[in-house]
Amino acid sequence: MAAAKPVYNKILLKLSGEALAGENGFGIDPEIITTIAAEIYDVVKLGVQLSVVIGGGNIFRGLAASSAGMDRASADYMGMLATVMNSLALQDALESAGVKTRVQSAIEMREIAEPYIRRKAVRHLEKGRVVIFAAGTGNPYFTTDTAASLRAMEIGADVILKATKVDGVYDADPAKVPTAVKFDSLSYLDVLKNGLQVMDATATSLCMDNDLPIIVFNLTQAGNIFKVVTGESIGTIVKGES
Ligand code: GTP
Repeated sequence: MAAAKPVYNKILLKLSGEALAGENGFGIDPEIITTIAAEIYDVVKLGVQLSVVIGGGNIFRGLAASSAGMDRASADYMGMLATVMNSLALQDALESAGVKTRVQSAIEMREIAEPYIRRKAVRHLEKGRVVIFAAGTGNPYFTTDTAASLRAMEIGADVILKATKVDGVYDADPAKVPTAVKFDSLSYLDVLKNGLQVMDATATSLCMDNDLPIIVFNLTQAGNIFKVVTGESIGTIVKGES
């Protein structure tokens, strides 16, 4: 492990809000967030520039609320606020683990976070700080996956690491179909044409147009962030040609 070298210099880690909830399925599990912070610490120690986008589904689901009758824009803004809570929680866990962290919010709330300023974010990363991008893109109708793609592009990330609860992308839901087959590699078009569960179409298209690879991997297995960053081929990579 001591000799491990990163194969990516600048990464954007996309965490779902649910990843923080653990078994509870709701809220923030302190043990889980501490574990994630420790894994991020190991990667930052390699000298990798690491930024994070977190969803908010463990606190509030905009889409679900809007399908239950709530105005979509209002529901999405509430979802964005949920991502701010998750970002502050991760900042706290990271700083307890000894990782310097800055939170930048797409919606200005200067009392609790820096506003999103691209050049400042890039500078923070150069100084070895983890930057957490909160409040999605700041716009309703855009998912946090799209925020992850956008921010990754803006800061010039080499790759998006999309953390999930399964080992990668399968041709069917592995929880329901025991014969489901995992893909090692996929093209953006495969994902879009077959409606595969990687990221939504807006986020995937943005990555395709800018040739930014996405690696879907299982966050629930200890050490996986480190493995992906040091080039172990786990999960599924989505790129130009499969
Ligand atoms: P350098 O100037 O590169 O050293 O970056 P820095 O982030 O250490 O300096 P800065 O003086 O900008 O920030 C010091 C602290 O204040 C950091 O923890 C920032 O996250 C925080 N900070 C900076 N701007 C804001 C803001 O607008 N709102 C809030 N809430 N915190 C801020």
